[in-house]
Amino acid sequence: MSETFYRTHAAGTLRAQDAGNLVRLAGWVHRRRDHGGLIFIDLRDRSGIVQVVFNPTVPEAFALAEKLRNEYVIGVAGRVERRPPGAENPKLLTGEIEVHAERLELFAEAKTPPFPIADYTEVDESVRLRYRYLDLRRPEMQANLILRHRATKAVRDYFDARGFLEIETPMLTRSTPEGARDYLVPSRLHPGSFYALPQSPQLFKQLLMVAGYERYFQVVRCFRDEDLRADRQPEFTQIDVEMSFVEAEDVRREIEGLMGHLFRVTLGKEVPTPFPRLTWHEAVDRYGSDKPDLRFGMEIVDVSEAVKSSAFQVFAGAVAARGRVKAITVKEQAGMSRRDLDGLVELARSCGAKGLAWLTLSPEEGVKSPIAKFLTEAELDALLRLAQAEPGDLVLLVADTWEVASVTLGQLRLELGRRFGLADPRQLAFAWVVEFPLLEWDRDEKRWVAMHHPFTAPLDADLPLLEEGGEAAGRARAKCYDLVLNGIELGSGSIRIHRRDVQEKMFRALGLPEAEVREKFGYLLEAFEYGPPPHGGIALGFDRLVMLMAGCDSIREVIAFPKTQSASDLLTQAPAPVSPAQLRELSLKVVTPPLPGVAGK
Ligand code: AMO
Ligand code: AMP
Repeated sequence: MSETFYRTHAAGTLRAQDAGNLVRLAGWVHRRRDHGGLIFIDLRDRSGIVQVVFNPTVPEAFALAEKLRNEYVIGVAGRVERRPPGAENPKLLTGEIEVHAERLELFAEAKTPPFPIADYTEVDESVRLRYRYLDLRRPEMQANLILRHRATKAVRDYFDARGFLEIETPMLTRSTPEGARDYLVPSRLHPGSFYALPQSPQLFKQLLMVAGYERYFQVVRCFRDEDLRADRQPEFTQIDVEMSFVEAEDVRREIEGLMGHLFRVTLGKEVPTPFPRLTWHEAVDRYGSDKPDLRFGMEIVDVSEAVKSSAFQVFAGAVAARGRVKAITVKEQAGMSRRDLDGLVELARSCGAKGLAWLTLSPEEGVKSPIAKFLTEAELDALLRLAQAEPGDLVLLVADTWEVASVTLGQLRLELGRRFGLADPRQLAFAWVVEFPLLEWDRDEKRWVAMHHPFTAPLDADLPLLEEGGEAAGRARAKCYDLVLNGIELGSGSIRIHRRDVQEKMFRALGLPEAEVREKFGYLLEAFEYGPPPHGGIALGFDRLVMLMAGCDSIREVIAFPKTQSASDLLTQAPAPVSPAQLRELSLKVVTPPLPGVAGK
């Protein structure tokens, strides 16, 4: 840090070799201790902490030091001295020295903070968010924001070195089709018309490809009005990427390179590449999820063959109805209590399964299970062999459609993985999930919708399925890929449709009327009439990435000023009502929902 009016050094940078030097420091009172007639202040600035000693032999400074409280802002001038032998503090980088104060200046007093800054304590999140500027003083939060800065810089350096251009796209724009609700901004100059804040720069980045920019990236804010969770915010940051003249594998390799660089320069960690690739079908089949946590096994197996002719109607019936019987084996849990097993049955039901059967393989008593009596010895043997169960293990079974059985066991797998600490928190298990279905059935609207977005290309081999439409279209797979890290979806991307005829087929499969298509995406389709290159890209959720890098379990921990679950900002109290004058100017009227009982009057 360079010298300023207030200081010559940053507190946390002083070391033994500075002993003897006169320094000026500025910062906050981290802690104060009175000791044997001396006053010790831990002075904190962004760089760290240094101990400052006030001696009564310097009466003016000493008298003022007696008045200091935590979080007061001060300036100190003094001499750096080695600490007396035995008084060193190996926990502090500055622990070999201290500053003997000669002058003290008070810049600002501080109220007692609502929670301690110096000592880590669990604080209710609403209090932390209400006083975020104090929360951000805590070393844990500071470390997170520093990491975030380094990560942003590493991303920019990587892309710059690889010939990508960072290009800004508009925030006041039209709706983008990412499946969430839009945040709308009323236009003053066009009464009754609205901008939408971008859910992503999707269409603009495709236009940049039409414009010939070939390699684009942007660290960009996106806005989505959706139900919030620990890994979702109404505004969040994407690392958005688009490339021309590429196939899916080119994009994936570029992103693997980015991850390698990012983890190397920010955390000193080597990320082995290439990442494993699983098709969507494989991921759901083996892990019951399109974002599998590959840090532990407990894979789902299909045991239908073993039980399809059994006397247990639940199993035989499921297979006969083109469903499956699937299982996971929980190692060394044959002794699980009935209560815990009942809990798992409940969990399975909450995932949509009709039930959950269990089977324990006790080393002493052999197989125990409410369903064992329905299975012959041969069936039981075959089942245990398929499940790779050994004495001491617990086997959990679900009979249902392929998807319900897989997803239910996937949820049980995650819950048991958590319960028994099977995932190493330090491990980074990246994976690509590829070949998602192109379409998914929207039960409410009774029509196909794009699983990723309507500009995602189908696999060449599946183009005829799209042409066929109906049921067949539902089987078409997409040139689409998700990047998954430790069971969290980090990013999604695809090769885009650049051929007009294919795009039209897609819109037809989606049942979108020509007029609606023109109205919503006319500008993109028009651009595609002027020579669109083959192109594709991806967007990574940057908040999620930094969250995983920091080892946190909520993206709010790596965002300076995040919003709550109900999308409010406790610090500024946004959103807030506006004045009637402002509403008038925007040609808006607020229709407050009528109170219950008042309706209709
Ligand atoms: P998608 O909608 O999958 O793809 O978003 C990409 C990634 O952004 C992150 N993300 C979020 N992070 C925090 N809060 C949210 N509310 C939120 N929503 C999404 C996720 C997700 O994987 N335009 C396409 C990308 C493309 O095709 O190139 C897109 O936005 O980590
Ligand atoms: P029931 O015949 O409903 O009493 O169920 C007998 C056993 O089979 C119980 O342990 C149920 O939890 C279990 N079971 C019921 N339906 C299913 C299913 N679809 N898949 C797996 N097990 C089931």
